[in-house]
Amino acid sequence: MQIFIATCINNFTILLMMSARNISLQMALLLVAISFYCVADGLENGLARTPPMGWMPFERFRCMTDCARFPRDCISETLIKRTAELLISGGYAAVGYQYVIIDDCWMEASRDETTHELLPSLERFPTGMSSLGDYIHSLGLKFGLYHDIGEKTCMFRGPGAARHFDLDAQTFANWGVDYVKMDGCYASDADLDRGYPAFGRALNRTGRPIVYSCSWPFYKSQPDYSIISQHCNLWRFAEDVKDSLTSVTNIMTRFSSIQNLLTAHSGPGRWNDPDMLVLGNFRLSYDASRLQMAIWAVLAAPLIMTNDLETVRPEVKELLQNRDIVAIDQDPLGLSGKKILQWRNIQLSQMPNFCEQFAGCSSIVGSPSASVSWFINNYSHFTTKFRLDPFFSMQYIELLIC
Ligand code: GLA
Repeated sequence: MQIFIATCINNFTILLMMSARNISLQMALLLVAISFYCVADGLENGLARTPPMGWMPFERFRCMTDCARFPRDCISETLIKRTAELLISGGYAAVGYQYVIIDDCWMEASRDETTHELLPSLERFPTGMSSLGDYIHSLGLKFGLYHDIGEKTCMFRGPGAARHFDLDAQTFANWGVDYVKMDGCYASDADLDRGYPAFGRALNRTGRPIVYSCSWPFYKSQPDYSIISQHCNLWRFAEDVKDSLTSVTNIMTRFSSIQNLLTAHSGPGRWNDPDMLVLGNFRLSYDASRLQMAIWAVLAAPLIMTNDLETVRPEVKELLQNRDIVAIDQDPLGLSGKKILQWRNIQLSQMPNFCEQFAGCSSIVGSPSASVSWFINNYSHFTTKFRLDPFFSMQYIELLIC
């Protein structure tokens, strides 16, 4: 049934092109209004104007540190360089995937005894982070690192930032880091609320533009998104994604259950992060892969892959690089789609930014019978393009309307 999504998305490309041609004063004013709004209420380091795109190892490679037994898969300079090269040679960077972010397990267990600086694992990152950063930059990509706001990183392999905010922010800046994923393990509720804004300010004081990704809301029982969105460029609102359809749909459900709250605070410079794209691994079927890609785009989510780029199947690579889907995700207005209707496993989402110029296209009718055919009312010339193949093996169906 995800065939529909791709078909629909192709049609949205048509809508998008028409919108661009008709770009009106109204649209320009809306853009200006949104920029003003952001200046008043966002982190506003000028970064992440569209959802960040890139790669991060955690879901796929976890905290594998045994390079003797697993030289290909351990968290190491080799894996990071190989991935950076594949982002370029595989065509991913050309579509927008630019951040190479090292997740947990890159550090030595203790800080430098004299300087108290963080130390990368000498065995797995022998040339050091600065030179790795240079290499990533030399390919035209950007460099990201994981850290934790509390006492320890979540995998308990390295020291957290506690009591070292300025030092760690400066160390990252010295290493040429462009993106920090700040986790929230081993921190009290008060530490989270004090620490996240304080580390963000420490990053700003370095003078280096660094995207600030916060896991803050995930560790709170009642996150205050109006505050979080003032301090972070993106924030995790749900549990860790896993390589399964259930995990993907759980995160979708989590989003839609609080979508009004979440979408009230997102936009250019500040994004809801449903976690990594797991397609390209072992357990998502092709249809489930389409679903994740489509939903993440509808949510205007960061598109951070976690996979082994060397072994991604060609059809999944095509999905990851589908420029139409990526264009929806990267729409400059940054408005997320919202679920407007759910019937059993059929979910309808509405994307506001594609609708303004198409009065009438929000009316969709259909019936999930064996010979189902869905079509858009009032737009008869789109009817054939919006027809669905009857295909009910999927456990979840997402329909996108504008
Ligand atoms: C937490 C985060 C994950 C990952 C791990 C690393 O679970 O939510 O995304 O960074 O920590 O330890």
